[in-house]
Parts: sequence; C-alpha cells; structure tokens
Amino acid sequence: MIRIIESLDNGIDLISMQNDELEIVVSNFGCTIVKILMKDKDGHVGDVVLGYDDFKSYQTLDAYLGALVGRVANRIGKGHFSLNNEEYTLAINNGPNHLHGGIKGFSYQTFDYEIRDGYTIIFHYSSPDGEEGYPGDLELKVIYELKDDTLHIRYLATTNKDTLINITNHSYFNLSAKQENVYNHLLQVKADQYACIDSDGLPTGKFQQTKDTAFDFLQPTTIGEQIIKDDKQLQLGKGFDHPFIFNTQQNQVILEHPATGRRLTVSTTLPGAQIYTANYLDGRLGKYGQHYYERDAVCIETQNLPDAIHIEENPTTLLKKGETYDEMTSYKFEVIKS
Ligand code: BGC
Repeated sequence: MIRIIESLDNGIDLISMQNDELEIVVSNFGCTIVKILMKDKDGHVGDVVLGYDDFKSYQTLDAYLGALVGRVANRIGKGHFSLNNEEYTLAINNGPNHLHGGIKGFSYQTFDYEIRDGYTIIFHYSSPDGEEGYPGDLELKVIYELKDDTLHIRYLATTNKDTLINITNHSYFNLSAKQENVYNHLLQVKADQYACIDSDGLPTGKFQQTKDTAFDFLQPTTIGEQIIKDDKQLQLGKGFDHPFIFNTQQNQVILEHPATGRRLTVSTTLPGAQIYTANYLDGRLGKYGQHYYERDAVCIETQNLPDAIHIEENPTTLLKKGETYDEMTSYKFEVIKS
C-alpha cells in the first residue's frame, strides 16, 4: 500500500510504502528515504536509517541523510573537468573539490512523482543544461519499488549533450535502530580492491588489495575490529570513506546486527560502493530526539568510481547523448532468527 502521509510546503510530500514486511517513508524532496521500519527477531519494530524529525533539516543541512545524490555523487577533483574539448567548472564545496553534485544537487530538488500501483513510485526530475555547472539537459527517472522484504531502486537518465552522471542513495544504516553505534555490525563487502584517497577524500588513482588489511571485509567482520586498526588510509578518511571495487555482480554488501537479527543485503548493477562510517556526524539532532555522532551509521553508496573523469581512460561516469544510464540497486531487509 502506498499513501501520502503528509503534504509540506512547496509540493513536498511524505509518502509511505508499506507491506507486511516493511514500512518505508520517502519524500519527493531529493527522493529522500526518511524512515525504514522493520521488525527485529523478537518482533519489535525499529527504524534502521538515520534522519530528521524536522523536515527543514533535510533542506538546509549537508550530510545527505537518506538522499539521492547526483548528478555526480562523491568528488570531482578541483571541481573541474574537460569533455569534448570544453572546460567545465563546478562548485568547490568540499575542501578543494566538488562533492555530491554541488550546492543544490539532486538531493535538494523536488521531484515530480506518480504512484503507479500498490508498491511503485516513479519520481522524475528535469535538470537543465548548465545546472550546477554540468552540461546537457538531463532527464532523470527514479523508480522505487517495494516488493516483499526488498526495496528496489532503479535510475534511468538521458541527456541531449554528453555529460557526467553517478547517482547513489546516501542512506545511513544502523540496524540496531540506533541503540548503539555500528561497531558490532557485521559487514561483508565482496571486494578484492579499494581505491586509496588523499586527505581531502579524493581518490588518488591508486588501488590496494583488501585482503588481510583493515579493508578486508571479504568474510563477515565487525566494523569495530577493523576501524580501530592502525592504517594510513583509515587515518586519511577519519574512518571508512573509501570506494570498494566489487568482485561479483550480486549481493555485494551484507550488513548484519547479530543482537537484533536484522540483516541488509545490497545488490547492484554498479561496480562499487563508497563505504562511509558517518565520520563527519557531529552531534546534530536527528529523529526521536537522538543526537548523531561519527560511527552511528554506515552508508553503502553504490556507484561508479568517484572522480572517474580524471582516473579512468573510459570514464564510467560519462553519459553520452543518445545513451541511457540505467542502473539498479536493491536493499533486502531480513530477520535472522537463529
Ligand atoms: C563522502 C564523505 C562525506 C559524506 C557526507 C560521503 O559520500 O565520501 O566524505 O562527508 O558523504 O557528505
């Protein structure tokens, strides 16, 4: 069942998608996931994503809680790139670099939407040529579909001029429902390699093997035991804030909180994910009167390689005129009752 639960100012709605397994509250402002309510192994319902009670915080603060991020998620070095012999300059909004699509990226835009049936919402946004400095009129369609215990998100985009795109969802997961930080969460990331970053969080173009390092989540491993390791890359990121490169094409990331039995499995058509342990949460006020600090959540931001335009020979973030960007990420929420 899908219903509008609240209409705020300026055409912004809060919409609930609900079935026997899950209730997911989303907004057409930034396609933001506001709540994900699921049971634990004792049947207690908890909210497994961070967010705000006061909707204005989504509009004014910058941690991208639950938001769709674009046109280009993560960083573009020095906010500058050239494409087809033209130079493009973007906002510098994160140290010396451009982050998450700029000052008013897709996270801060209000999407049109249509409720298709009992379980599908189709969001739509037309981004004009030059918006936030990016070339091309971009048509973006985002489909949220709740089926049983899984939320499927599909992203479709076309452009009338070659441009860059890298869309992700920036939900902050905490499967304990914020009863504790994520140190006791078991994380599995099927990735043999991760991208090294500099002190501004920008990928350097160097890749390292995960095996036997702090970045080794090939087997389910608690975040707490890895994050405390003495590792130069962890120091640079102030925790995990790195692109992991997947070695498989489905069920690439599994997050589990053993005490509540809650498990999230992320499956995507994309080649990697930025794993981010909320290193910059600074005590801000979130939902249910709780304050949010670093390590209170983990983001699993599926995407192409950040700064691909400067690193890859054939950048995966390039969308050519006449082509369609078509990617899908699914989030499966289960309760393990062992
Ligand atoms: C970035 C972080 C940033 C966070 C919130 C993540 O995707 O990698 O460095 O602080 O988003 O903006």
